Amino acid sequence: MRRESFFYRNAAELLTLAGGPCPRRGPRLSELGIIRGGGLLTRGENISRIGRSAALEAEARRTKAQEVDCRGRVLMPGFVDCHTHLVFAGNRIADFERRIRGGTYLEIARAGGGIEYTAARTRRAREAELVQQAQEFLEQFAAHGTTTVEVKSGYGLDVPTELKILKAVRRLSRRTPLDLAPTLLAAHALPPEYARRRGAYLARVVRELIPRAAQKKLAEFADCFADRGAFTAAECGAVLQAARRHGLVPRIHAEQLSRTGAIQLAVQLGAASADHLDFANAADIRALAQSEVVAVLVPGSNFFLGVTKLPPARRLIDAGAAVALATDFNPGTCPTLNMQFILSLATTQLRMTPAEAISAATLNAGHALRRAGQIGSLEPGKLADLALMDVSDYREIPYFFGWNHCVMTVKKGQIIYQLKN
Ligand code: NIG
Ligand code: FE
Repeated sequence: MRRESFFYRNAAELLTLAGGPCPRRGPRLSELGIIRGGGLLTRGENISRIGRSAALEAEARRTKAQEVDCRGRVLMPGFVDCHTHLVFAGNRIADFERRIRGGTYLEIARAGGGIEYTAARTRRAREAELVQQAQEFLEQFAAHGTTTVEVKSGYGLDVPTELKILKAVRRLSRRTPLDLAPTLLAAHALPPEYARRRGAYLARVVRELIPRAAQKKLAEFADCFADRGAFTAAECGAVLQAARRHGLVPRIHAEQLSRTGAIQLAVQLGAASADHLDFANAADIRALAQSEVVAVLVPGSNFFLGVTKLPPARRLIDAGAAVALATDFNPGTCPTLNMQFILSLATTQLRMTPAEAISAATLNAGHALRRAGQIGSLEPGKLADLALMDVSDYREIPYFFGWNHCVMTVKKGQIIYQLKN
C-alpha cells in the first residue's frame, strides 16, 4: 500500500472546521477554524498535521513529503453531497420545457413526465449504461470539489430495477475514487402498474425489496418520498420501520411540495436526516431543533423548479437545528452537481452566511451521512479529502456564482482532479 506524504503549503486560508461540537448548531455553524498562511501534511489516506505553513516545513522535509504550493488560495474540506439521485437513464428536458411554458411539477408528472418517465427509461437501461453515465457525472462532482456523495435509488419502482440501480452504485464505488453512500429510496412514486393497489406495492417493498437489498448489503440508508402525488407519512413510516428492522438507517424527503407530517415522523424514527423542508411549520422547526435529525436543505431544486416557497433556513439555524446542504442532483428537479453553486443559492436565497453555508456543506453534511468522524473537517487522523479553490477569501466562492473555483481535488490523500493550465 502506498503511504505517500504531501505537504500543502501556503494557503491564504485553510478552512479547518476543527474542534467544536458536531453537528454545528446555531452560532457555531459560522466557525470555520481558519488558519491564515495555513499548511497541511498528509500521510497515506489521512491528514497527519495542520498548522501554519511555516511551522510544518521541517517535518515536511524530514518526511520527504511532496510539496503542493497553494499559492495563496483557499484550501478546505472536500464537499460532502449528502443527497443525490445520481443513477438514472435519459434526462427530463421535455419536462423542463413544459415547466417553462407554465406547467407545474405535479401537473407534468401526472401528464406522463416526472419520476415515472425516468423510471420507464431506467427500467429499460442495462446496468452498464447506468454505470457509464453516472461515472461521467462523478468525474464532474470531483472536478467541482466534492469528495463524498450519497446516492439514492428510486427510479426503478420495481424490485429488479431498484436492485439494478443499487448494484450499479456498488460497481461505481469500485471505479471512482469518491466515497459513495448508498440509499434505497424504496417508495419514491407509485408505479403505474400498481395505480389502484398502493398497499400491494408497499407490501412488496417491505417484504421483498428491503430484505433483499439489506441481505446483499447494497444499501446503508433507506429513504421515502412523503408528499402529495407520492406517499403519506404513515405509509413512509411503515416502510422506514421495516427498513430499520433490516439495519438500514432512515432518512426522508419531507415537506417538499406540501406538508405531510414527515418531519415529525423523522424525529420519531430518529432518522439521519429530513430533507427539503420547504413547508415545515413552527412546530416542525422546534421538533428538529430538539432532535438529532439533520435538516438537509437543497436550494438547487427550489431554484430549478422556480418555486417561491423556500425552506426556512434562517429559522432552522436560529432555533438550533443541525442544518446541512446538498445538491439533490437528479434529472427532474436539480440537474446541477456543483456544490459551489448550492453555496451561492444558500447565501442569496436562504440568507445563510458564506461561513454557515460552508459548514453545512462539509461537516454537517458528513454528520448527515454518519461519517463525520472521518470527513467534513481538516483534523489529524481524518481522511485527507480536500478542495483547493482559486480564491483568496472563502466568501468569494458563493459570491462569484456559477463559476467553478476548484483547481484541485484530493481524495484520501491522492490528487484525483487538477485543473490543467
Ligand atoms: O428530490 N422529491 C422527490 N425526488 C426528487 C425529484 C425526483 C424527480 O423529479 O425525478 C427530488 O426533488
Ligand atoms: Fe431528492
